[in-house]
Amino acid sequence: MSEEPAPYGAAAGAPAADPAPPSPGPLAPRVVRTTTLRRWKEEGRRWAMLTAYDAMTASLFDEVGVPVLLVGDSAGTTVLGHATTIPVTVEDMLVLTRAVARATARALVVADLPFGSYQQGPAQAVATGVQMLKEGGAAAVKLEGGSAVAPSVRALVDAGVPVMGHTGFTPQSEHALGGYRVQGRGEGAEQLAADARALQDAGAFAVVLEMVPAPLAERVARELDVPVVGIGAGPGTDAQVLVWTDMAGLGGGRTPRFVKQYADLRGELARAARAYVADVETGGFPGPEHSFDA
Ligand code: KIV
Repeated sequence: MSEEPAPYGAAAGAPAADPAPPSPGPLAPRVVRTTTLRRWKEEGRRWAMLTAYDAMTASLFDEVGVPVLLVGDSAGTTVLGHATTIPVTVEDMLVLTRAVARATARALVVADLPFGSYQQGPAQAVATGVQMLKEGGAAAVKLEGGSAVAPSVRALVDAGVPVMGHTGFTPQSEHALGGYRVQGRGEGAEQLAADARALQDAGAFAVVLEMVPAPLAERVARELDVPVVGIGAGPGTDAQVLVWTDMAGLGGGRTPRFVKQYADLRGELARAARAYVADVETGGFPGPEHSFDA
């Protein structure tokens, strides 16, 4: 079994050459809710989720019609400079979630519960989930795991906290899983399908499948009534999610094979920063148009 490069922040190389495809149709409803996503599943309508960690990108993604924004704990690597998502704290997530929620008018804002904030069981999960809605302004939370976290999902939902499940490869369990590896191959397939169903049965409004063979993900999406969101799970799921810095080519390093890079923001930003430095050093900036009269 080969190990994939760690996602969440890695993104170098050439941008994809093809232009952005036209939007498939009207983007509204006014506000996207978990019930909207359930209806879209019934209608066979596919949708996109992107991570967001700050007000500027959140308002931009909201404006262009991204229906679901995930304040992912991938912020651990993309924003906070950690090597993994494991050190991310509830306080970190609250700061980022508030920024995204304040800047969002329409998208459903989902906040990750970070590692250590729900693993003790349902009571801890409810306490953290309530915080994410009450203090962070999120509309829902996401947590990682399969059947083992189903009691926590149930407790959260019963407490009024909508939950997005996340199974397959779960980055918070990187050490337990032996690295970034595709999950659900061979005999693992039935367990993975059962985990996804357990999340739905516990009340999850959607389930993320990460790094799962495409045929298995397609089967799970077919079998579940709730939307299945894929990342590295092929084209057969109801929705897709990418880390925005991967999608836009802002990160450095190797890009996981499941990322499609739609821009070269790293190259563009590097060009802008170099031009600014050179301008300052040569006296090209500021000019009279940037200066005030006496
Ligand atoms: O933290 C994150 O960004 C995620 C997704 C990419 C699914 O969990």
